Amino acid sequence: MLEALLRYINTWWIHESVLGQAYTDCVNKTKPSNSKSALMPFLNKVIEGDCIESLKKLPDASVDMIFADPPYFMQTEGVLLRSNGEKFAGIDDDWDKFADYEEYDAFTNAWLKECKRVLTPNGSIWVIGAFQNIYRVGYIMQNLGFWILNDVIWSKPNAVPNFGGTRFQNSHETMLWCTKDQKSKYTFNYKTMKEVNGGKQHKSVWDIGICIGSERIKGADGKKAHPTQKPEQLLYKVILSSTKPGDVVLDPFFGTGTTGAMAKRLGRNFIGLDNSLEYISVAEKRISEEVVQLDHLSKLELEVKPPRVSMLTLIETGKLEVGEELFDKKGNSICSLAATGYVVDETEELSIHKMSAKSLKLANNNGWDYFFVFRDGKLKPINDFRYEYEEEQSNEAI
Ligand SMILES: C[S@@+](CC[C@H](N)C(=O)[O-])C[C@H]1O[C@@H](n2cnc3c(N)ncnc32)[C@H](O)[C@@H]1O
Repeated sequence: MLEALLRYINTWWIHESVLGQAYTDCVNKTKPSNSKSALMPFLNKVIEGDCIESLKKLPDASVDMIFADPPYFMQTEGVLLRSNGEKFAGIDDDWDKFADYEEYDAFTNAWLKECKRVLTPNGSIWVIGAFQNIYRVGYIMQNLGFWILNDVIWSKPNAVPNFGGTRFQNSHETMLWCTKDQKSKYTFNYKTMKEVNGGKQHKSVWDIGICIGSERIKGADGKKAHPTQKPEQLLYKVILSSTKPGDVVLDPFFGTGTTGAMAKRLGRNFIGLDNSLEYISVAEKRISEEVVQLDHLSKLELEVKPPRVSMLTLIETGKLEVGEELFDKKGNSICSLAATGYVVDETEELSIHKMSAKSLKLANNNGWDYFFVFRDGKLKPINDFRYEYEEEQSNEAI
């Protein structure tokens, strides 16, 4: 009873005071639809108990993203010894034990079914696993109607060796990223992930080291607090790529709360489920110490869509003139502006997009990024006029 009361006070304290104003602002951004408001009592808390029972307490279509790191049913046998003879602390926990594949599959089917129910129509789910379980998980997910978007490989440059030299070193895990169904309009922050990847389209193989050093949480005895703590960088990328600020991220196998910590860092809400009080207290302490870091990436500033303003509007408002010349970035004259909002060269009248593609000898191109006009003796992108128009409109509205 006392333990339960202390836990209640602790979660309230985390929620109300430690997370800070920036986080509270994000929490408040959560759209208050009916199912969302029913979710409020669970936000930024860890629910103790069996995940299938806890999932049943959550409303239908209420969470925006799920990250699940379930038991892998590793079936580790015997003692693993390092090359120097030391015992290797592998995964031999009761929560990873099942009688057989039938029991494992029934469990997997049950929690995934509940996850599908609580996911919003345009939400997405990530499930991580390895060769021991991921093929079963994928089969069950497809049977439940989930639509696989990617199988992302988490490649580990510092993977644990195969101590006995009996197989290849197992140096990766797999994350199935899926939507609720094929029609879902899911969130994918493409430009943000491109920036994270140094300006190149992000691939589905992610090189991230396993969780070691100061990031690895230790117990009072100096040993690992949890056998399978995932690296922060992995969850950072998962959450950044597939959620918006203020979204709700659910983790039904919370462990040390890596998902909650990264959700908080990125200004997203979380809900954690775990049946171990010991792990829950580790996770709660960790999240209370995590700092919200809102930057241009977490705020998705790169994903902002350009204003929907037509060429015709720019002519009507006097920003562009009928008959004026349009240039490429080097100042070469390409075409001139027609009264229709289209552009003409010596042979035809086309949209700015088709004309820019023609000039570049490409099938498609974005004309807003291609054309310039001269203003005060300098080239000015026609795109700037769209933003100026939008700004003026919003100033008028104030
Ligand atoms: C693979 S670990 C997750 C580790 C976590 N991703 C992290 O970074 O720390 C799985 C967790 O699920 C919990 N668990 C296992 N079976 C469960 C069940 N039926 N209901 C709730 N939690 C469960 C375990 O206590 C364990 O903490």
